[in-house]
Amino acid sequence: MRVAVVGQGYVGVTGAVALARQGHHVTGIEKDPARLRSLTEGRTPVSEPGLQQELSLALETGRLRFAPDLTRTHVTEPFEIVLITVGTPPADDGTADLSQVKAALAEVAELLPAPHVVLKSTVPPGTSERLMAQHPRLRERYAYNPEFLNQGSALDDWTTPSRVVAGVWAQPVTEVLHTLYGALTCPWVVTTPTTAEMTKYASNAFLATKISFSNECARLCATPDLNIDQVMQAVGLDPRIGHAFLQPGLGFGDSCLPKDTTALARWAASRGLATPLLNAVIDVNRDQAALVRDTLRQELGADLARSEVAVLGARYEPWSDDMRAAPSRAVVPQLLAETAGVRVWDPAMDADELGRLFPGARPCPDLRTALRGARAVAVLTEWPETIEADWSVLATELAAPAVVVDGKNCLLPERLAGLPLTYRSAGNRLPERATTSFGDGTPYPAPSA
Ligand SMILES: NC(=O)c1ccc[n+]([C@@H]2O[C@H](COP(=O)([O-])OP(=O)(O)OC[C@H]3O[C@@H](n4cnc5c(N)ncnc54)[C@H](O)[C@@H]3O)[C@@H](O)[C@H]2O)c1
Repeated sequence: MRVAVVGQGYVGVTGAVALARQGHHVTGIEKDPARLRSLTEGRTPVSEPGLQQELSLALETGRLRFAPDLTRTHVTEPFEIVLITVGTPPADDGTADLSQVKAALAEVAELLPAPHVVLKSTVPPGTSERLMAQHPRLRERYAYNPEFLNQGSALDDWTTPSRVVAGVWAQPVTEVLHTLYGALTCPWVVTTPTTAEMTKYASNAFLATKISFSNECARLCATPDLNIDQVMQAVGLDPRIGHAFLQPGLGFGDSCLPKDTTALARWAASRGLATPLLNAVIDVNRDQAALVRDTLRQELGADLARSEVAVLGARYEPWSDDMRAAPSRAVVPQLLAETAGVRVWDPAMDADELGRLFPGARPCPDLRTALRGARAVAVLTEWPETIEADWSVLATELAAPAVVVDGKNCLLPERLAGLPLTYRSAGNRLPERATTSFGDGTPYPAPSA
């Protein structure tokens, strides 16, 4: 099929590459000039395992190309199907900002001959109905088909999804989606666009609930007679529950769960519907970002104002460069407000990037420089460089008596036990009893959606 994918962010680039790999002739449409240049030069603008290699291969086959403008490309080579994967960022009031979706759809509505159109961006229930009231000509050719990929495994998730949710008004559109996606073995849920929209929000709300639940359990387990790691191991071994998204830490901070939970709560409120559970999930998450500051207040008291803090890791997850809602963006300003100084180190970011993200903090080129003379350490990313470091050596760089707050519950107990530092974490794991994998040997998965 001749396919256009409008919007080349995490979802769009992944989709364009995966569809070209499948054999379709794909044009990725991107209006941001820097992003477009990167793509046309064969460099992925988003960090995602395997994506760079697959992008290069797809460009070599000639089945993938990129362009700035949907309309002009359609004139010369009409698209049979247009996927819309533009952003739906949070507006100031927390509702979903639909301006990118509206603009992209307005462009599609002008195309002749009219293609099929598939909206994949996450939007509040009822959005498709409202949009198609403005573009009735597209209604019979329209699907709302939410994307469920995880950053970190995006290509695999696109190629082998757990399910396809197809919100359509006309059954033939489902056949078009089957042709687009090829021989998928996963279940299909064919429904109305409004139900499909709700499905995406409900999925993300549930994942967020698991994370806030595990963080609340961590608070309940923060005494020496309780072991949060073992509690979550045992809870997750129940096949009705599972281990995914059960690791306590700084809360959800990917680009989707924070905005989608808030947007769902706002959508419900606009209809006079109460969301006490969802509100609690959001509240727990907001408070969780204060774990590092609050723990340091407890441990250092008045000394906090005279202490330097080394922040190890700025990314939410090592494998994703998506910083839109990373907890470090809340934690570093909190620390800057209360301490003598904050140093930040992240092995994937240079000094310019760190300086732009964290004005007032001192970017550091390596781990040891970050730690030298610091009284406190905040671990915000599960970087192997941090986890596998020789902490008996690193501890000698710190000003005594030092405190390490492990915001990801990722440090290895054998590397910390017996060292002259106080180790604190979500749920107050004891260094000699902490684990980084579940009881069945599965490593803790990091949350993302
Ligand atoms: N990021 C994820 O992991 C993920 C997972 C599932 C669903 N989603 C949802 O998918 C949607 C896209 O997410 P994302 O993270 O890829 O977005 P993004 O903001 O990273 O990228 C969107 C891209 O679209 C481009 N764009 C906007 N309007 C355009 C237009 N008219 N023509 C051409 N390009 C245009 C922007 O310049 C940008 O590069 C969102 O609704 C998001 O909630 C995201």
